[in-house]
Amino acid sequence: MSQQHENKTLSLGETIEEIMNRRMSRRDLLKGAVGVTSAAMLGALGLRATNAAAAPTPALRFASVTPTAPTFDDVVVPEGYYARTLIRWGEPLTTSAPTHNVWEQTPQAQAEQFGYNCDFVGFLPLPFGSNVSDHGLLFVSHEYTNPELMFPNYDFNAPTRNQVDIELAAHGVSVVEVRRAYDGTWNYVRNSQYNRRITGETPIRISGPVAGHEWLKTSEDPTGTLVRGTLNNCAGGKTPWGTVLTAEENFHQYFGNLSKLSSSDPRVAVHKRYGVPAETTELHWEAFHARFDVSQEPNEVFRFGWMVEIDPYDPTFTPVKRTALGRFRHEAATIGIAKNGQVVAYSGDDQQFEYVYKFITKGTYNAKDRKANFGILDEGTLYVAKFNDDGSGVWMPLVYGQGPLTAANGFTSQADVLINTRKAADLLGATKMDRPEDIEPNPVNKKIYIALTNNSARGTEGKPGVDAANPRAKNRTGQVIELTEAGDDYASLTFKWELLLLCGLPSDESTYFAGYDKSKVSPIACPDNVMFDNAGNLWIATDGAANGIKYNDGLFVVPVSGKERGHVQQFFSSVAGSEVCGPELTPDNRTVFLAIQHPGEGGTFESPVSTWPDRVGLPRPSVLTIQAFDSRVIGS
Ligand code: FEO
Ligand code: CA
Ligand code: CA
Repeated sequence: MSQQHENKTLSLGETIEEIMNRRMSRRDLLKGAVGVTSAAMLGALGLRATNAAAAPTPALRFASVTPTAPTFDDVVVPEGYYARTLIRWGEPLTTSAPTHNVWEQTPQAQAEQFGYNCDFVGFLPLPFGSNVSDHGLLFVSHEYTNPELMFPNYDFNAPTRNQVDIELAAHGVSVVEVRRAYDGTWNYVRNSQYNRRITGETPIRISGPVAGHEWLKTSEDPTGTLVRGTLNNCAGGKTPWGTVLTAEENFHQYFGNLSKLSSSDPRVAVHKRYGVPAETTELHWEAFHARFDVSQEPNEVFRFGWMVEIDPYDPTFTPVKRTALGRFRHEAATIGIAKNGQVVAYSGDDQQFEYVYKFITKGTYNAKDRKANFGILDEGTLYVAKFNDDGSGVWMPLVYGQGPLTAANGFTSQADVLINTRKAADLLGATKMDRPEDIEPNPVNKKIYIALTNNSARGTEGKPGVDAANPRAKNRTGQVIELTEAGDDYASLTFKWELLLLCGLPSDESTYFAGYDKSKVSPIACPDNVMFDNAGNLWIATDGAANGIKYNDGLFVVPVSGKERGHVQQFFSSVAGSEVCGPELTPDNRTVFLAIQHPGEGGTFESPVSTWPDRVGLPRPSVLTIQAFDSRVIGS
């Protein structure tokens, strides 16, 4: 719709606020209960979303939502906004896929349906290269499964083969075409040529320095170059050439029976460093699939823990594990283009006392030919961060032959360094962080924001104590670090850093909100996924606030410059048992997509603690949209 048409539509003789106030009570809006009827309401008001091109984002001026107790099972959005479920676990992506039926579910059906526990959300405009905000592809990762919520009468000690194979099919990624309709609401396009599931069984190529390494060879793949599936896909990042990077995070948990390997086997120490379980796994997949039994396939686990690149615009594309970016519990990889055109990918290793990394490509970004960039992440240098207490910092190269990364410490090649990235970083003396989650460059001010979600073990017996970047012992609420590369260049090897937020209840004197008046900020805990709007404001989704401050998780925004710097405001509150992921904005900033992961965690199929979003039967991990009734820029 043109801007002219939009103006006509809105010239109703009264303001949108007046219309909304007249037709809806504040209480209804705050409860978010309007979400289910909002499409009809929007139509009734004669309002439609705008196609206006991205404009400078106005100041934030929404009224913060009130946090909800962890048992509260509804979403809450600010007055003037509505939330609507876009796609749920189990919804069919193809013509042949059946409607989800929990009593008759099959792995084949799940492999053509939206997966479980949605995490990363990337909106990629259609066609590629356009900046449209009403039509695109959603790239959504499916991190893990909650079998106790997915299956009736689930037995934790003895899952069935069918259940295990459904779980494998519920992991991975969904690519799904989405459109904004005439009434402003979003729907996914069933049967789109782009719709695709990538699961724990999809063939995936291995590229980069580790491809073909002895330790990547298995009985199924003697070449060490082709893996079955991707697992525990957590956050991710979009590349400027239109592909998406999806992170294999807690991959270790799927592989069991490490204690059955001989302790003299050099692979055992590596598996231990990455936390591979000694005995059976919680999920028991190894009972049905030898590749998850380390005693039978000692190398399969080396084929996980990588960043995976996928071209969502090409449904025939074989996903690629880019080994040059290192192997750890990757949370994400987000991209900045350095001043000389080199591509820089920031990533964190999400475990207590693990590290922050970045990768700098050897080659430079080609803006004219997207395909020319498809191998660019295969060559370059991986660095790990050291945060000095004086606010300076350095990126230390993880390069075979340099410093301690030699045969004396068990490394005989760059591939060895990458397979055992954690040990290499240990040897360099990198800074042990409070669980690095999302790390992302802010395109407006070029600074990098690092969400450190929590670390309850910090400063406890036998564990590292506090340092300036991780300044609280038994840290249950997390912090956000702002990192400034030297010369504002992503390729720099030195930086300055400062704490932006020490999260928690504002009444807790250990908290800090960049010096902003604590009486005016929303309580926030356990920062996880981040994004930026067109004005450069930092948006933060949380995971674990119920443990930290006894509220449901939510979505928050905080300006990072000007007199409002540090003014944290809650924009969204989620449902019982869930964490909030995504988040993602359309280019015009008028729609925000959120992934609501594991709603009802803590309950079971038989004793649910959430029925979101459908209010009958199971809770369903889902992606929702939030928009303003007057289609204004989110938060403005
Ligand atoms: Fe999957 Fe670290 O969050
Ligand atoms: Ca996360
Ligand atoms: Ca998380």
